Amino acid sequence: MLEGRRGSAGLATVRRAAGPTATGKAPRRAIAAATVPRRASPAVPARPGENAADDAPAARGCDSHVTGFTGKHGLIVGVANKRSIAWAIAQATASLGARLALTYQGRFEEHVTELAQGLPATPLVLPCDVSSDEDIARVFATVQQEFGGLDFVVHGAAFAPREELSAPFSQTTRDGFRLALDISAYSLIALSRGAAPLMEPRGGGSILTLSYLGSTRVFPNYNVMGVAKAALEATVRYLAADLGPKNIRVNAISAGPIKTLAAAGISGFSGILGVYRERAPLRRTVETSEVGDTAAFLLGDGARAITGEVVMVDGGYHITGM
Ligand SMILES: NC(=O)c1ccc[n+]([C@@H]2O[C@H](COP(=O)([O-])OP(=O)(O)OC[C@H]3O[C@@H](n4cnc5c(N)ncnc54)[C@H](O)[C@@H]3O)[C@@H](O)[C@H]2O)c1
Repeated sequence: MLEGRRGSAGLATVRRAAGPTATGKAPRRAIAAATVPRRASPAVPARPGENAADDAPAARGCDSHVTGFTGKHGLIVGVANKRSIAWAIAQATASLGARLALTYQGRFEEHVTELAQGLPATPLVLPCDVSSDEDIARVFATVQQEFGGLDFVVHGAAFAPREELSAPFSQTTRDGFRLALDISAYSLIALSRGAAPLMEPRGGGSILTLSYLGSTRVFPNYNVMGVAKAALEATVRYLAADLGPKNIRVNAISAGPIKTLAAAGISGFSGILGVYRERAPLRRTVETSEVGDTAAFLLGDGARAITGEVVMVDGGYHITGM
């Protein structure tokens, strides 16, 4: 929900994790893979009136479940440690064949480099502070050089100063507001702008961010982060409209509360978890792997007609009235 501290990340190094751990493990998500055909669909059907579904791999008898994200490249921003939602998304897409670039914020370099070694294909590991346009530009230059293009981006960065998440909301400072909105919402625009030229030559792409129900409802202490998530969800819709003609889709997952580093900064967070367990239709909270599976669907070709959407992955909590 929020992140603890900003890091100043220079972009001096491009790290590769120490070799693939090609252990011959079977892809762990055959079902999700079945929804993700081999290639991005064309921006426009070949002939007017033609039903694009006729061209779908199933109709052509392709063995789509084997391919998943094979040949696709993704950029994942927001991995801090093994509990990060972005890490679960990295695992979900990498296990389906994606080659990834992971970015880290300053102090998380060691963690992310170590985690990266567990992915099936050697990822790039790059520093990136999303409040820096220079960092972002360098990341995309490196990705272009190493991958020759990009198919998907995951935006999993968020930050609000700790004090903004305990003081009464009316005490929100101008600086705290600016920082929270810059890092948690504006950065999606900056990343999308950088990604689009790398996606266009590949016939399009998919961009995904992570939001929370605090965008539209009030949760104790979520404060300015709720405002940032509202801006983030509006940003998803405007970007979807802007980039849709290039066949670039932009969506968000609104996840239920999960104990991550970011969530630890919210006072009373365990109370929120307890309410979800008690009242969500599924009577439980969600796991990062469940968000990862939904993300793999939204990033893949199975969701090729979905854009501008905020998909709830919260055990159904959002539908409850009491
Ligand atoms: N954990 C939850 O309950 C929950 C629920 C819904 C949505 N979310 C959202 O999921 C996303 C990921 O959070 P998480 O819960 O996995 O926690 P996390 O702490 O693992 O991830 C937050 C990430 O934001 C990064 N970050 C913060 N400032 C940055 C900056 N200036 N530049 C680059 N990166 C920066 C951190 O390095 C970290 O990797 C966030 O957008 C969060 O709001 C979390």
